[in-house]
Amino acid sequence: MRVLVVGSGGREHALVWKLAGEAGVDEVLAAPGSAAIADMAECVPVAADDIEGLAGLASERGIDLTVVGPEAPLAAGIGDLFAERGLDLFGPSREGARLEASKAFTKSVLTEAGVPTAAYGETAEATEAKDMVRRFGCPVVVKADGLAAGKGVIICTDEAEAGRAIDGMLVDGSFGQAGSRVLVEEFLEGEEASFMAVTDGRSVLPLASSQDHKPVFDGDRGPNTGGMGAYSPAPVLTEEMSASIVGRIIEPTVATLAGRGIDFRGVLYAGLMMTADGPKVLEYNVRFGDPECQPIMARLRSSLLDIMQATVAGELAGVRPEWDDRDAVCVVMSSGGYPGDYQKGKTIEGIERAAALADVTVFHAGTARDDNGRWVTAGGRVLGVTALGQGVGEAATAAYAGVDSISWEDAHWRRDIAHRAIARARG
Ligand code: AMP
Ligand code: GLY
Repeated sequence: MRVLVVGSGGREHALVWKLAGEAGVDEVLAAPGSAAIADMAECVPVAADDIEGLAGLASERGIDLTVVGPEAPLAAGIGDLFAERGLDLFGPSREGARLEASKAFTKSVLTEAGVPTAAYGETAEATEAKDMVRRFGCPVVVKADGLAAGKGVIICTDEAEAGRAIDGMLVDGSFGQAGSRVLVEEFLEGEEASFMAVTDGRSVLPLASSQDHKPVFDGDRGPNTGGMGAYSPAPVLTEEMSASIVGRIIEPTVATLAGRGIDFRGVLYAGLMMTADGPKVLEYNVRFGDPECQPIMARLRSSLLDIMQATVAGELAGVRPEWDDRDAVCVVMSSGGYPGDYQKGKTIEGIERAAALADVTVFHAGTARDDNGRWVTAGGRVLGVTALGQGVGEAATAAYAGVDSISWEDAHWRRDIAHRAIARARG
């Protein structure tokens, strides 16, 4: 089998790392990939959102399975294009990807499916949106309908703030087209959790549970990032809770998509708020989380290729992967200043030293090699140092031992990844 992985970040590094060693995989290609991915796969300079170029590459190179990492090509319709060309692809159709690309679409699916979610209103009119704010009361959440790079969600403590958020989106157009419609949502309280499942459009295969940390600073302070770390399993998602999420949230969503004739073969990722009334859906993503994918791949004992092939073939029923009993923790090391402005090109020391530690894997999110072959920083999120351990405390200790071996000027990382899970484990 020849497999093509689309993307270039830490998630894609983890997918390539897992696939490259598996039985049945003869060759892995990545587009565009990265310097680190190039150690395990052939990187081809086709951009992740150039879906025509990717289809051409898949045909020319006789690719048997294409695996899509990021959401942009899915939202652009790579699923439909590959289907037209008779090329196998792990990822939903464009219509399915609207679950991530349009919050209004997601709400309509959730409502039809009877899945618990925050009460909401949706409009393109600022006055109407402000009426909704008064109806819901504060705090209230104002959201841009479309993809806004994780920045289109504003939690407002009072009406004035909500008014500014609404005017910013609908009047000033600060989110462009993505903010031309807004959702006004009831504010939910609770602990957040992520739940990822693979689906072939009928059957649902829950992945090991995981949890990420979005704010940039310790104690969940500061602006939101793509994720500063993640761990698996997430103790808040007990087996009983996971079963209930599959039955009450994931399966009804998949059935509703199927009922609408939408082809969804890939990852369905639910962002949940664990409220006093049970789990409620905050959002869906239509791909693996990044960095959640990294600890999950570290724990996956079974063949990822087998799972993905079964998904594409519509034969996922009965597939039950094996997981490492150990916990996995991934600590993201980022460029100082991220998610705001940051500098690139800083020389990184110690990656090999960290990777040589037992049960530590260093996934690269944003690195390059300089002219002398040394690793340098090349992005906001730079590395995802991932470790397995007996219990979450030991996994975190091992991951931080890896982090402590690595250095560059202005490196930043959170020191409290998995703190909630560790506190829970201590009782
Ligand atoms: P979303 O992209 O919709 O998941 O929103 C991003 C983040 O905003 C979530 O991870 C939550 O932390 C927060 N959030 C979104 N919707 C709500 C809500 N209705 N109540 C409370 N927090 C929310
Ligand atoms: N870590 C959150 C995401 O991938 O969307």
